[in-house]
Amino acid sequence: MYRALRPLIFAMDAERAHRLTIAGLKALPYRPSKFDALLEQTLFGMTFPSPLGLAAGFDKDGEVPDAMLTLGFGFVEVGTVTPLPQTGNARPRLFRLAEDRAVINRMGFNNRGQAALLERLAGRPRRGIVGVNIGANKDSADRIADYAMGVRTMARVADYLTVNISSPNTPGLRALQAGGELGELLSAVAEAQGPGGVPLFLKVAPDLEAGDHERIVRAAIDHGVDALIVANTTVSRPALSSSHRGETGGLSGRPLKSLALDQLRRFRSASGGALPLISAGGIEDADDAFARVAAGACLVQLYSALVYEGPGLARRIADGLAERLRHGGFANIAGAVGSE
Ligand SMILES: Cc1cc2nc3c(=O)[nH]c(=O)nc-3n(C[C@H](O)[C@H](O)[C@H](O)COP(=O)(O)O)c2cc1C
Repeated sequence: MYRALRPLIFAMDAERAHRLTIAGLKALPYRPSKFDALLEQTLFGMTFPSPLGLAAGFDKDGEVPDAMLTLGFGFVEVGTVTPLPQTGNARPRLFRLAEDRAVINRMGFNNRGQAALLERLAGRPRRGIVGVNIGANKDSADRIADYAMGVRTMARVADYLTVNISSPNTPGLRALQAGGELGELLSAVAEAQGPGGVPLFLKVAPDLEAGDHERIVRAAIDHGVDALIVANTTVSRPALSSSHRGETGGLSGRPLKSLALDQLRRFRSASGGALPLISAGGIEDADDAFARVAAGACLVQLYSALVYEGPGLARRIADGLAERLRHGGFANIAGAVGSE
């Protein structure tokens, strides 16, 4: 069905197609997804029915978390949300690189702000696992304070929070990953979180240098971060064939796959398994998802492959993962984490 519709959707501007998709998803009635019991895992005090989640950026304003749970995601991350609403960069700012099965975006945290997201999430029945990804406003005078405010404001409606310091589309944001700044940021968010607060994840860029992994892992463990999400989009440009390859922004999808897997392995080796890892970047099928689990990810997320594979993808990957676990003789998903 999606294959037949895809040429029509691809004839449309990518952002317009995305808005239409969200509008359509709003009409989908909620139905809890059923998963193979092998996929269930208890992590951070929550039960994840499947390790495959929706990555941030698809549902920035939390308009369709229930629809995405219905489509077979085991958890959904909404956002990035910033304290104040902002319009983001000038359009066009979202590009399909169909020949490369990739996406380039320079959205720039377009979102309706924390107050609107808080109201929307507070108005829905609490079901499934819905995390909130928080960021800083582009023109903020104090970005660290923006993150602390995000933690304080959104904790009430979030099952977990993700501190996103890895978007390439807010100038200077990724500098927060550097030594001194990272410690200061993580202290501020830990204080805002308070003891026994909601789980806190840190999302990093895939464009890191030797030594960064050990430093980030140490800072995360020292400040009580619960997990790392590895990774956001890349500013690097592997060989691409699409005419949009020269666009500025973050690249995601298939060309990010090997870099994301490599970064996951580096973080696994830097942490020795002491810090839970969540893998994102170029996951397109059950083989990719299984490879990330085997390389040490307890959870995985995707976004770009949805553009090419359509709404049945999450269900297919969950079923395929369960099949691989069964054939591999694993008692459950937790037994496969780091098994490579
Ligand atoms: C259009 C678009 C918008 C995104 N917006 C966000 C965002 O707001 N916050 C964030 O943390 N990541 C954002 N991402 C990154 C994804 O969450 C994910 O980390 C990245 O795309 C790699 O996964 P993928 O290859 O499966 O897409 C965005 C990605 C895309 C394609």
